[in-house]
Amino acid sequence: MSVFKTQAWKDAVDKVNYDENLVPEREIPSVLTKADGSKVANAWEWMSVRRPEVLDFYTREVYGEFPPRPEEMTSEIVNVKNDALDNTAIRKEIKVTFRQGDLSHSLMMLVYIPKEAPEKVPVFLGLNFKGNHATTDETDVLETGRDTDGNLVELARGVQCERWEFKKAVARGFAVATCCYHDIFPDFPTDEAWRQSIYRIFYPEMIPAELNKKHSAIGAWAWGLSRMLDVLEGEKLIDCRRAGVCGHSRLGKTSLWCGANDLRFQVVASNDSGHGGSALFKRNLGESITILNMAFPHWFVSGFEQYNDKDADLPFDQNFLMALIAPRMLCIGSATEDLWADPKGEFLAGVYASEVYRLFGVPGMPVTEHPAADVNVTGEISYHMRTGVHNILWQDWDHYFEAAEKFFGIKPDRCI
Ligand code: GCU
Repeated sequence: MSVFKTQAWKDAVDKVNYDENLVPEREIPSVLTKADGSKVANAWEWMSVRRPEVLDFYTREVYGEFPPRPEEMTSEIVNVKNDALDNTAIRKEIKVTFRQGDLSHSLMMLVYIPKEAPEKVPVFLGLNFKGNHATTDETDVLETGRDTDGNLVELARGVQCERWEFKKAVARGFAVATCCYHDIFPDFPTDEAWRQSIYRIFYPEMIPAELNKKHSAIGAWAWGLSRMLDVLEGEKLIDCRRAGVCGHSRLGKTSLWCGANDLRFQVVASNDSGHGGSALFKRNLGESITILNMAFPHWFVSGFEQYNDKDADLPFDQNFLMALIAPRMLCIGSATEDLWADPKGEFLAGVYASEVYRLFGVPGMPVTEHPAADVNVTGEISYHMRTGVHNILWQDWDHYFEAAEKFFGIKPDRCI
């Protein structure tokens, strides 16, 4: 059960450091040091020995195991609109159902595909916070995203349109698919949320606290993105070999964990993902592990609590998670006013992860100095820090699309 916003949580938040001058000089561990203490020598050794060690570590101690594969998964196109977004897109709403024995669980995908593309298009997948109807101003999109009492978390349509500029994405030649994350695991730190999550079909007799030892909400959300990609593999207008996953904030943590597990995602974008995402814990700037675990115990496995108050002494840091994306495209986005998420720490995790990219003969992050606001740097790891607050806006997407185009070898004039 959460102790969210108890006095203890408030006290911990009050002590958070936001001052760069108070960031201690600490060595960031190298992800290339294997469990036996020796150093990874080449890309083969990374892929066959060290990468599995790191993935296993995060599975056991941070994000948990993916839910199992269901006995059956079906998809049903419940609505199609061939003239969506002022006749520039085909819009589909696809109900995906997972079955295990007599039990089933469904999610609802919203997909926009550019019309009249000369060839199959690349795609970005991402979860949304407030329901599919909140991502678009098209008024006939089905309402999704419910709390554990069955009420919509957001009644108003289009309130998060600015986060999902489907029309611009489609004009750029990309399909975009989304689903509300509450469909997969309602984002509440309660037993009832576990009982209404995807885990219910696999563990109908669950004791949530027991299940939380090996599973988490972030694990469920990441798994959901992988299943969405499975469904899109059947879409003839979409090229799933050019798929990206993008998420904001807790869903940026999710996109990283998804990309770490599912190598089909060639581009992995983390927007303002902060601690438990791309920010380095050891800098002690912004949120801490204790604060995360107090407020959002369901996001991580319960064993992650062993690191409470140990941010400084961790045997790992989030550069390890970033390294699991190599040598694919990793995009990191920050915002100037989002100190809670530690923009510089988000950047530096990418810098430190670059040692794995170098094993593949590419530089990774192209610079080592934290770029000024609104400057895009784009290597195999990209970074920008948008002027403004914690949010995902077109300026952020624009850079993720630019990075994806570069990675996929798409020339701008090839876009529709
Ligand atoms: C909180 C939390 C962050 C998280 C954010 C979000 O601020 O502390 O870790 O990224 O919520 O997901 O919006």
